[in-house]
Amino acid sequence: MATTTLAVPIQEAKDLLTGAEWSPAHSRELLALTADIKANPSRYAETLRGKFLALIFEKPSLRTRVTFEVGIQSMGGHVVFLDHTQARLGERESIADVARNLERWVHGIVARVYEQRVLDEMAATTDIPVVNALSDKFHPCQALADYFTLEEKFGSLKGFKLTYVGDGNNVSHSLIYLAARLGVHLRIATPANYAPDADVVADSRRVAKESKAKIELFTDPREAVEDVQAVYTDSWTSMGFEAEEKVRSEVFKPYQANRKLMSLAERGAVFMHCLPAHRGYEVTPEILDGAQSVVLDQSENRMYVQKAILHTLFR
Ligand code: CP
Ligand code: NVA
Repeated sequence: MATTTLAVPIQEAKDLLTGAEWSPAHSRELLALTADIKANPSRYAETLRGKFLALIFEKPSLRTRVTFEVGIQSMGGHVVFLDHTQARLGERESIADVARNLERWVHGIVARVYEQRVLDEMAATTDIPVVNALSDKFHPCQALADYFTLEEKFGSLKGFKLTYVGDGNNVSHSLIYLAARLGVHLRIATPANYAPDADVVADSRRVAKESKAKIELFTDPREAVEDVQAVYTDSWTSMGFEAEEKVRSEVFKPYQANRKLMSLAERGAVFMHCLPAHRGYEVTPEILDGAQSVVLDQSENRMYVQKAILHTLFR
């Protein structure tokens, strides 16, 4: 069956754990494959025929769970959902034991976890693909869907100007890794104590030299947003950080995406958010629900990009 017209075989890694697995060329190929899957879903209806995937979620989810379940089934595969919201992985038995058992029954693992090290250990213990469905440090499926959404709307991502304002969190880390691979000019504006992790920034700047990307850090959101083509924010308190909510809602106030901040961006700039959003906190309702917002396109595209990821890992 004809599946893709891509020239370069994009499989370089067994797993998708961070967003840094693929080279610049192969990251671009993944977005091209996503476009083909979105335009021609029936070509990919057999990719996962006879395959079973375990979905393990330690945290709540709407978008990630539904897009993986629908996406996998639309490619002929089957899902086994393991609800770990009440008990963390490694509590009843070791992470390695869970992974070694799962690989006797299923062909791949999609997991949302509190700690990145849990994913790393599962991936190291098994021969089957492990996909990060969000950890404390990374959210690669989200960032890939976000860049696919921008490419769909604006064309080439080379030199595209995107500003992320708010918390230097999991979403920001994967946006940084993939900006470096896709040639994006990414500015990140955070309070000084909430900057993205230095290792992610340093690794990405090395890759950025090859791809002509730019990764810039700011503390002033207004300066960071000036003349950009897209403004992105995420919740100020990620899952797992609820104890800090009160402090965070004070510290992050100047980073709210509102009409004033958006007016500094380029005319026609879009507003992005991975969702779930908190109206009146990181974004005002008029921006989140207004004409500039592409948040539902980002959500929709999660499914296509994840199908491309699975197609790549399982072919
Ligand atoms: N954006 C995202 O990952 O949403 P969920 O937490 O609902 O899966
Ligand atoms: N940074 C957020 C993303 C939710 C999809 C969190 O980790 O809660």
